[in-house]
Amino acid sequence: MIPAVSAVLLALAAAPAVFATAPHSDLKLALSSIPGRPAARRARIHAANLARRATDPLPTGTSEPLVDYFNGTDLQWYGEISIGTPPQNFTVVFDTGSSTIEVPGMACGEACVGHRQFDPSASSSFKDLQISDTLNFGTCVGVDPVDDNCELWVSLVADTFTVANFTSPEGALYSHFWLITNQTSGFLPDPFDGIMGIGADANDFFHDAGYPAIFGMLFVPENEGGAGELTLGGVDTTKFNAPLLYSPLVVNDWFLLSTGIFVNGQTTSSLQNNNTFLFDSGTSNLVLNEPLALAIYSLISPDIVANADEPGTYGIACDLISTLPAAIDITLAGIPGQDAFNLTIPSSELSSGPFKNKPELCQTLINVSDGLMFVGLSLFKHYYSVWDIDNQRLGFAPNGF
Ligand SMILES: *[C@@H]1O[C@H](CO)[C@@H](O)[C@H](O)[C@H]1NC(C)=O
Ligand SMILES: *[C@@H]1O[C@H](CO)[C@@H](O)[C@H](O)[C@H]1NC(C)=O
Ligand SMILES: *[C@@H]1O[C@H](CO)[C@@H](O)[C@H](O)[C@H]1NC(C)=O
Ligand SMILES: *[C@@H]1O[C@H](CO)[C@@H](O)[C@H](O)[C@H]1NC(C)=O
Ligand SMILES: *[C@@H]1O[C@H](CO)[C@@H](O)[C@H](O)[C@H]1NC(C)=O
Ligand SMILES: *[C@@H]1O[C@H](CO)[C@@H](O)[C@H](O)[C@H]1NC(C)=O
Ligand SMILES: *[C@@H]1O[C@H](CO)[C@@H](O)[C@H](O)[C@H]1NC(C)=O
Repeated sequence: MIPAVSAVLLALAAAPAVFATAPHSDLKLALSSIPGRPAARRARIHAANLARRATDPLPTGTSEPLVDYFNGTDLQWYGEISIGTPPQNFTVVFDTGSSTIEVPGMACGEACVGHRQFDPSASSSFKDLQISDTLNFGTCVGVDPVDDNCELWVSLVADTFTVANFTSPEGALYSHFWLITNQTSGFLPDPFDGIMGIGADANDFFHDAGYPAIFGMLFVPENEGGAGELTLGGVDTTKFNAPLLYSPLVVNDWFLLSTGIFVNGQTTSSLQNNNTFLFDSGTSNLVLNEPLALAIYSLISPDIVANADEPGTYGIACDLISTLPAAIDITLAGIPGQDAFNLTIPSSELSSGPFKNKPELCQTLINVSDGLMFVGLSLFKHYYSVWDIDNQRLGFAPNGF
C-alpha cells in the first residue's frame, strides 16, 4: 500500500493500493525502538549475535493466523496486534509496501465508527510524541473507483507493542506509530482497523525482540478457504514443500529485478527488458507502466480494453474472461550463484470481478500507473513468501494453491 501523496511517491496519484500507509522519507521511524532506551540498546547488541548467515537453517519464529477480506475478489489479509499496557487489540493489514503503523485513536470518534479505537488514557506506557500529519491515498480498499475520499489525520505516538507472541524479553516491544484522529468515510467499510507496514529496513524491530530479522507470509485465496499466516522472526516450513528460490533486493526496500516476462509461454522484445518491481503485500493485484501492461494484455487478448470511466483500469466482457489463458511468468534475478527463476501468476487471476458501473465488463488484473510498479497479492496467493531482511533477499516456494 502506498499513499497517493508522499514525498517519494507523488507520481502515484492513482495508486490502486488501498488503505495505505506512508513510507514517509522524513518519518521512517515506526518499527524502531525509541533511541537511547537502554533495554533496546542491550537488545541490539544481543542482536548482533542473531544476524544470520544466508546458509544457516531457517529459524521457526512465532506465527499468527491471517483472515482474508474477500469482497467479490480477494482484497487483503489481516491479523491481530496488541498495543499498550494493559494491551488493547487491533486488526491490521501487514503491508510490505509501507513501513509505518496506523491504528484508530479514541479522538477519531464517530469518524472511525465500527473500528476499535486506541484509548491512550487506558495505557500506562503511552507516550504522545506531539507530531501531526495527514496521509492521502489514491484509493481505500477494494476495486471501486477513486473518489477523493481516502484521507487520514494522524498523530505520532509510542507505546508497547505485541504481535504474534512477538515480545521482547521484558514483555513487550516499544514502537512508534500513528494514531488516526480523523478520517474520511472511504475507510469505513474496511473490516480491519489499521495497517502495520514492515519495510526491508525493519532490522531493529526484530532484533530488539530477540529474533532474526526475517518473516514468512501465506495468503490462501477465498476459493481455497481464505486463511493465511504471518510468521515473525522465522519461516513456517510446514506451509510449502519445494525449495525456496531467492532474489536479491535491489535497494533496502522490497524491490526485485525482473529480467523478463512471458505470457502463456510467449514473449516479445519489449517484455524482455529489465524492470524493478516493488513486492507489496498491501496491493491486491498488479500495477505496471503503460507499455508493459499493454504488451502483456496484447498477448492475452485484443478484446481487453481501457475503461475510460476509471483511468488506469482495463477490462474485458465477463462472458469471455473465464475461457482465456493468461498465465504470466515473471523472471527474477537469482541471488549470487543461483540461476534466474520464474514466478507464475495463473490464468485464474485475470479477472478482478465486474466493474460496479459496467457489470458486463470484468476488470483485468493489471492497472496502469506512471509511477512505481507493484506486484501484489495476485502473485503472493500462489507462493509462500520469505521476507529476509538480514540477508536482503526475498524467497518464494509454491504453496500448492
Ligand atoms: C503464543 O504463546 C503461547 C505461550 O507461549 C502459546 O501457547 C501459543 O501457542 C502461542 N501462539 C502462537 C500463535 O504462536
Ligand atoms: C488480544 O490479542 C492477543 C493476541 O492475538 C490474544 O491472545 C488476546 O486474547 C486478545 N485479547 C482480547 C481481549 O481479544
Ligand atoms: C485499479 O485502479 C483503480 C483506480 O485507482 C482502483 O480503484 C482499482 O482498485 C485498481 N484495480 C486493480 C485490479 O488493482
Ligand atoms: C473530520 O474530517 C471531516 C472530513 O472528512 C471533517 O468534516 C470534520 O470536521 C473532521 N472532524 C474533526 C473533529 O476534525
Ligand atoms: C463490499 O464492497 C461494497 C462496494 O463495492 C461495499 O458497499 C460493501 O460495504 C463491501 N462489503 C464489505 C463486507 O466490506
Ligand atoms: C520462464 O518461463 C518461460 C516460459 O513461459 C521459459 O521460456 C523460460 O525459460 C523460463 N525462465 C526461467 C528462468 O525458468
Ligand atoms: C539486466 O540486468 C542484468 C543483471 O543486472 C544485466 O546483466 C543485463 O545486462 C541487464 N539487461 C539489460 C537489457 O539491461
